[in-house]
Amino acid sequence: MKILAIETSCDETALSILEIEGDKQSPVFRILADETHSQIALHAEFGGVFPTLAKREHAKNIPVILEKVLKDAKLFESGETEFDTEKMNSILEREPELLATISSFLRNTKKPEIDHIVVTSGPGLEPTLWIGIMFARALSLAWNIRVTPVNHMEGHLLSVLIDSTQEEDKTINLTEIQFPVLGVLISGGHTEFVVIEKIGSYKKIGQTVDDAVGEAFDKVARILDLPYPGGPKISKLALEGKKNELVKLPRPMIATPDYNLSFSGLKTAVLYLSKKLQEQNLWNEETKQDIAREFEHACAEVLTSKAKKAIKEFDIQSLVIGGGVAANTHIRNEFSKLGIPLLLPKHKLATDNSIMIAIAGYFEISQGKESYLYGTEKTPDEIKANGNWSVDA
Ligand code: KG4
Ligand code: ZN
Repeated sequence: MKILAIETSCDETALSILEIEGDKQSPVFRILADETHSQIALHAEFGGVFPTLAKREHAKNIPVILEKVLKDAKLFESGETEFDTEKMNSILEREPELLATISSFLRNTKKPEIDHIVVTSGPGLEPTLWIGIMFARALSLAWNIRVTPVNHMEGHLLSVLIDSTQEEDKTINLTEIQFPVLGVLISGGHTEFVVIEKIGSYKKIGQTVDDAVGEAFDKVARILDLPYPGGPKISKLALEGKKNELVKLPRPMIATPDYNLSFSGLKTAVLYLSKKLQEQNLWNEETKQDIAREFEHACAEVLTSKAKKAIKEFDIQSLVIGGGVAANTHIRNEFSKLGIPLLLPKHKLATDNSIMIAIAGYFEISQGKESYLYGTEKTPDEIKANGNWSVDA
């Protein structure tokens, strides 16, 4: 089965084509093409993702990326494809530029050998999610291929199953994973603990009550005069930091009996600390390094202490960490000390990508989740963007 996966939930436009063979218990994945266009540089000057701008960029880049992945996968062939123009116009009526480019591309390209389209439909920024969904609808119409919506957070959880850098086929042997698994989702938009009984069965047991941990990294970075996105920059700065009695930070909610977390107070504590150090003329490169280190330690401590508790309560056998913050070396190291097998995404798959969407999509399809096709009772018009779609909904 060949799957085309589409991801536009935030500031990366990503498409990939994967070929999957073998049985459900040990499917073999081959990455035929994978392309991610990051808008980070564009949003850096706003200090965060600017949704309207992000949407426009996705719409501009997605047809170009499609052509690239089809060529990389050797599935591109000039020719003719006929489709219902009126329906195509209505699918993309709100995006006239995208309509013009993609219609002419599709009309002059032969239908590729792709069996299924999967698209992120939430959670994320709704305006940008809509670009991916409209694009999926357009391709589905032109090529008469089924579409399955995928949860972005399920993608992050399953991103640990594959290595994007491998040249060879990857067999995912599900029998090697010991369930129940504790999923720790740490990204710019989410911070959640999820108990995974098996692939496809998720139960959220706790989450942040305010900011996501990645968001806190980004906000603290701004206080430390570092550009967006702050996570990688803080990690780098923290490497130079040392223990400093003057830069102590709190461990919010570390002792609460639930699995919830809070990061907004931690960010405010950094802000007050920076003001205090400025007044004392102690605001310099060294104290900033020490703050970066202490902040990273505080985040790692609250996350791992809640994870430790969950491991006991839910008889957890292994850990999976997903989301952009999973790229943080200190946090990875602290989780690796918890004494049970730890599955981590390869660095490239820790941040947003479409390979993880293809993997999650494959499992949704193989477990018989509903898919959508024009001309049937359930058309892709039923797929909607859901900015708050919970992984266990
Ligand atoms: O999963 P992701 O790519 O996008 C969302 O779905 O949010 O995560 C992006 C977040 C940003 O907040 C970024 O600062 C953070 O992940 N991040 C890091 C690191 N690399 C990226 N945070 C801490 N340490 C890192 N090395
Ligand atoms: Zn993400």
